Amino acid sequence: MINTAKILSLLIVIILCISCDTEKKEKQKTNEPTTLKDNFKNNFLIGAALSNTQISGADKNAINLLEKEFNSITPENDMKWEQIHPEKDSFYFEIADKYVGLGLKENMHIVGHTLVWHSQLAPWVQNIKDSTELASTIKTHINKVVGRYKGKIDTWDVVNEALNEDGTLRESIFLNVMGEKYIAYAFKLAAHADPNAKLVYNDYNLWKPEKRAGVVRLVKQLQESGVKIDGVGMQAHWSLEGPSIEDIENSIIAYSQLGVKVSFTELDVTVLPNPWDLNGAAVEQSYEQYEGDPKMNPYPVKLTDSAQTQLAKRYQDIFNLFLKHQDKISRVTFWGVNDGSSWLNNWPIQGRTNHPLLFDRQFQQKEAYKTLLNLNN
Ligand code: XIL
Repeated sequence: MINTAKILSLLIVIILCISCDTEKKEKQKTNEPTTLKDNFKNNFLIGAALSNTQISGADKNAINLLEKEFNSITPENDMKWEQIHPEKDSFYFEIADKYVGLGLKENMHIVGHTLVWHSQLAPWVQNIKDSTELASTIKTHINKVVGRYKGKIDTWDVVNEALNEDGTLRESIFLNVMGEKYIAYAFKLAAHADPNAKLVYNDYNLWKPEKRAGVVRLVKQLQESGVKIDGVGMQAHWSLEGPSIEDIENSIIAYSQLGVKVSFTELDVTVLPNPWDLNGAAVEQSYEQYEGDPKMNPYPVKLTDSAQTQLAKRYQDIFNLFLKHQDKISRVTFWGVNDGSSWLNNWPIQGRTNHPLLFDRQFQQKEAYKTLLNLNN
């Protein structure tokens, strides 16, 4: 009698254990991340830059992919000064409104890019020579643009690319006319126009030790004079070979020690040859003499398997670093949704076929995508 009872209870325990284990396995299966934003949801936001065509809704495939994989957006061009404020008394908000509408509809983290930048600046601003006039122009611009999207745009790239490669201030129209106070001025205006928005200083080559020192100086100066700055945006237009993980890591640490968050705002990894003395991502650079040169465009149809694997490995190393420092990083944004829409097809040489992102021209997942989804985080 006792034995039968014992055997019975043992059987029940065994059955319970088996069913519990199957349930656990089932759970693991359903919990498996299936998208980028899901995979990194406990680490940082995953963003993509949107082109004019994508925002206007003409590229449905891109928007479908965006909604599935990403939880943050940045406008690639449509909020730049020349687009949004082309003449002194005229603003063009049509595309920007659509962009913000899309982000709100999808409940995404919305980035504004960018308020004060020497490139893609409206020509009428470039003619201003008087300091007071330039200050009042910047004031109108920031109040109007930031004010319009108050409470809707979560993060603003307030000043873009104010530094030279050696960390000194770039001789832009803003520096030349107003002196270095223009930077604090822009941040103050943005903070006033939307006190809840996160405010970022954004630039390329921020892994470089000399430029890093320049950013540290700039952020400290702002903080010491009581000006709000929330983050440093490292653009991250990188290649298969560089920058080194160590240089990137040193910058993440240096910036976060200032008490601001780091974001990777424009990530892409070029796979095309870059044999000339090309540094960073200054949009003015162009190399017309290489246009149509097949040596400069080795993958006009598709990426070879070995290059695909190299790209995957590079992204893996980069994201392993990001995960290591996830407490310091708020967002990782890719500069484009898929290879077909990347600016690197036309910069710095027009008409090439680049493959720098995680989705190919047919919006299919590349090896790099699958590698990132398998990262242990
Ligand atoms: C690029 C856009 O992707 C291109 O479409 C445009 O022709 C030039 O600008 N740094 C920045 C971005 O901050 O705004 C730039 O975007 C790339 C470099």
